[in-house]
Amino acid sequence: MKIFDNFNLKELNTFHISVNAKKLVVIESENELPQIQSIIKNNKYLILGGGSNVLFVNDFDGIIIKNEITGKEIIKETDEEIFLKIKSGEIWHDIVMWTVNNNWNGIENLSLIPGTAGAAPVQNIGAYGVEIKDVLEEVKIFHLETQSFQVLKNQECRFSYRDSIFKHELKDKTFITEIVLKLKKKNHVYKTDYGNIKEELSQLNVTTLSPEKIAQAVIRIRTSKLPDPAIIGNAGSFFKNPEVSSKKYLEIKNKYPDVVAFPLSNHTYKIAAGWMIEKLGLKGLEYKGAAVHSKQALVLINKNNATGKDLFDLSEIIINKIFDNFGILLEREVNIIT
Ligand code: FAD
Ligand code: EPU
Repeated sequence: MKIFDNFNLKELNTFHISVNAKKLVVIESENELPQIQSIIKNNKYLILGGGSNVLFVNDFDGIIIKNEITGKEIIKETDEEIFLKIKSGEIWHDIVMWTVNNNWNGIENLSLIPGTAGAAPVQNIGAYGVEIKDVLEEVKIFHLETQSFQVLKNQECRFSYRDSIFKHELKDKTFITEIVLKLKKKNHVYKTDYGNIKEELSQLNVTTLSPEKIAQAVIRIRTSKLPDPAIIGNAGSFFKNPEVSSKKYLEIKNKYPDVVAFPLSNHTYKIAAGWMIEKLGLKGLEYKGAAVHSKQALVLINKNNATGKDLFDLSEIIINKIFDNFGILLEREVNIIT
């Protein structure tokens, strides 16, 4: 365990917002977790992985618990399946590359998502037709108050689109210490229907699919539209894509026949929030140091030494404009830390 007082968090969040925390505690082994209680006492605290889904609006008047618990192992194999136990501080994309290089199938569509393995179940990360819930067996957690470990099976995590129990009942109460994934060693099942994966594969002249080829296609698509946080501060999609009733969808479709939306199984529609933002001419909009990314309107960027408040205020402007024009209240995907 390492402890630092009055620590600047600029390098610990992908928006690169320069704020200070009262204390930073770096956890390197789950054996250190029981000591945390005496450190946090009555202070406010935040568990932090790669900082790629948080926006610090002010200095953080509390303790940042930074997860650096690493390790990975194969825990079980059958003829067809492989079970991987991954410590929560592992870098998610490195894990994806490990699986792809071994020709294990299941998470190749989730390539290049920044952050740690332990944060992946928190918002049930998803991309290109796959969500972590599709391959997640279980999650091991440490209850900070009761100081006890517990294993939650997939169903107990109550996963849905960008949501889980970790954003509700267990929010800020538990530290995720490891996850177990179940992947396929053979009889691979590939998801290539989303967006332009098929076009990208054909451009790469791929005739035989493999986890590696799909990862390659996904990485190329993502790199073409999402800003690299090492160069331009961002946290991926700032808002969730809203789910609306079919009545609401038809109302919008009547007014804007080119609306981009996907039917869901329960007679509702998911509207592409990026399309709505672009439709209102907000792509590229700048507000103080913050801006709407010019290649992907759902992504807000730190264009020029933005403060967390600049980004938050820009998100408010967008929420209000979308509400006034479409009657839809956008929900932020990024965790706002005050
Ligand atoms: P942090 O930002 O550090 O934390 C996020 C939340 O999880 C916080 O509330 C934190 O308290 C909590 N948390 C973190 N670790 C733990 C833990 N061990 N135990 C308990 N709680 C914890 N997301 C997608 O779903 N799909 C995408 O395609 C995608 N693309 C992105 C592209 C870019 C360029 C960027 C910058 C972000 C993208 N994201 C995407 C968002 C982000 O990468 C994911 O949400 C990721 O899982 C966050 O991981 P992290 O370690 O950085 O979490
Ligand atoms: N679109 C526009 N203009 C834009 C952006 C998007 O018109 O500026 C329309 C296009 O028609 C496009 C469609 O919206 O085809 C969907 O866009 P895209 O495929 O880029 O995906 P998204 O809906 O904007 C979601 C996730 C991403 C994930 C991608 C790929 C959410 C909130 N975001 O974005 O996740 O990588 O799909 O699956 O669900 C993240 O969560 O941080 C994230 C990046």
